[in-house]
Amino acid sequence: MTTFTGWIARETPDGHRTTLEELDSEVLDDRDTTLRVHYSSINYKDALALHGRPGVIRRRPLVTGIDATGEVLASRHPRWRPGDLVTLNGAGLGEDRHGGLAGLAAVDGADLVPVPAPFTPAQAAAIGTAGFTAALSLLALERHGLAPAHGPVLVTGAGGGVGSVAIALLADSGYEVIAVTGRPDTLHDRLTRLGAAHVVDRAELDPQGKPLAKQRWAGVVDAVGGPLLAGALAGLRHSGTATTCGLAAGAAFPGNVMPFILRGISLLGIDSVRTPRERREAAWQLLARHLDPGLLDTVTRSVPLAAAQDAAADVLAGHGTGRTVVDVRAR
Ligand SMILES: NC(=O)c1ccc[n+]([C@@H]2O[C@H](COP(=O)([O-])OP(=O)(O)OC[C@H]3O[C@@H](n4cnc5c(N)ncnc54)[C@H](OP(=O)(O)O)[C@@H]3O)[C@@H](O)[C@H]2O)c1
Repeated sequence: MTTFTGWIARETPDGHRTTLEELDSEVLDDRDTTLRVHYSSINYKDALALHGRPGVIRRRPLVTGIDATGEVLASRHPRWRPGDLVTLNGAGLGEDRHGGLAGLAAVDGADLVPVPAPFTPAQAAAIGTAGFTAALSLLALERHGLAPAHGPVLVTGAGGGVGSVAIALLADSGYEVIAVTGRPDTLHDRLTRLGAAHVVDRAELDPQGKPLAKQRWAGVVDAVGGPLLAGALAGLRHSGTATTCGLAAGAAFPGNVMPFILRGISLLGIDSVRTPRERREAAWQLLARHLDPGLLDTVTRSVPLAAAQDAAADVLAGHGTGRTVVDVRAR
């Protein structure tokens, strides 16, 4: 038996409460691979789980954390040896399986991806589910036929984790990027450095009930939902494609069929949690080709495990900027 520290969600009469505790390895499930977790990160789902909000934790008690990056301690899976550096996003971690905001994790070897060059383990954690989802979004747009010559791509929630990585990936892949943010004054320079050609105030995208607007962009990466998604769809060019992965502004959106039936647009859903291994590897290869690790560092901050809950409060308040890595071994 080994002891380790982790953020664990425990049942309360009105949901759950998450606290930092010393835990026994016996709390973990029997999975084929044991990881010494070096880093995790704060995604929107982690913020909800750390603050007792509903919608993420499906089993209690549960070690939280939807990402884990670290070193294989022991594995019965044929792909892995002790000492291998690996990363894992989603796959039920921190939802219905014990997660990565802790010193130890028991996981399925089939879900793991090696930390790819040129990234360090800390940078792989900085990418985390948010960056992985940005890569899945770009892969989906391109599978659907989008290419840089078709026109600009709009990125909503630009200051957040998915948005920041999406801007960098798209710009490095040759796309003209329009970044949409609620904080244009404070984030203008940062988003431009990531590769945005234009920074737009999200108030400008409010569709105000109009289903069709001037045709401006060929693609959309949306992490926000709500009225912003409706505005993004209203401005898509004919045959344009949008991806939707998030609900920072709300799960419902005031959609209208007109852009679909008059402009032939498409809306593709992105789910990072149940992504099959081949697609996980394709997303990480895309990140390795098109995400400059130095640029990633400029939008990353690091906090020790004990500060994860405080860092999550910023995300819930809509003030999260870029990516927050949790250094599990730091005191
Ligand atoms: N489907 C999946 O597999 C998947 C995977 C990863 C993430 N997600 C979801 O994607 C969303 C974004 O994740 P994230 O990690 O990027 O979160 P994040 O870092 O907190 O970023 C969200 C961004 O959305 C914008 N925003 C926040 N509240 C808003 C509001 N009320 N109206 C309009 N914009 C608002 C803000 O950007 P600005 O200040 O720049 O406007 C904020 O930085 C979350 O809902 C998350 O659960 C889904």
